[in-house]
Amino acid sequence: ARTGRCVVAVDGPSGSGKSTVSRRLAVSLGARYLDTGAMYRAVTWAVLRSGVDLADASSVAKVAGETDLRIGTDPQGYGVTADGVHVEVEIRGPEVTSAVSAVAAVPAVRAILVARQREMIAAAGRIVVEGRDIGSVVAPDADLKVYLTASEAARAARRSVEDATDVAVTAADLARRDRLDSTRTADPLTQAADAVVLDTTELGIDEVVARLRDLLTERGVA
Ligand code: DC
Repeated sequence: ARTGRCVVAVDGPSGSGKSTVSRRLAVSLGARYLDTGAMYRAVTWAVLRSGVDLADASSVAKVAGETDLRIGTDPQGYGVTADGVHVEVEIRGPEVTSAVSAVAAVPAVRAILVARQREMIAAAGRIVVEGRDIGSVVAPDADLKVYLTASEAARAARRSVEDATDVAVTAADLARRDRLDSTRTADPLTQAADAVVLDTTELGIDEVVARLRDLLTERGVA
């Protein structure tokens, strides 16, 4: 039955296959999908537009609190707006990508977004949520926690194809962002103690999704 509660938390570094796996799993479960990275990116877009100094945490938090952020949860295509402006394209651009780690490191920004994420999860009931702190902070009671990894080379290669950028530049940028996301004080990228760890360097997307479906079936939640 596609009715019971089913919350799946998917965490891992950039390029680990999180987005593709999470969206496919959501479609296959008939569940909603929440891309929490897109929320941090949309707030970053608003911060850049406002012109406040990225290093000024209280101004950054103020912009986050005042921005009307909306994000859909359809795994086959979701809109993201900030103060009514569609930002789906801009949030994937280089300006946002290079500033997002600084914005995501501000504790007050995280508090605002984590509260929103918890409301959306509760409202959806059946949902796959991807990010960095989902199993550890946002949804510690998730029915399944997944931590995806992949070699640095595989992650850089995937991102450079996705973003149409040079692989060496992408590798350097990924390494920088992973370091910032993993070493920040507020809710860093964390592998929850009870997460299932899957290395996607060699595993195909379909195999990963099938593995997760099996785990959910074993646990009697999907
Ligand atoms: O998954 P992504 O690349 O779209 O995430 C963008 C940034 O947002 C990433 O550098 C880390 C941050 N992020 C976070 O701190 N917590 C989350 N739950 C999701 C993303």
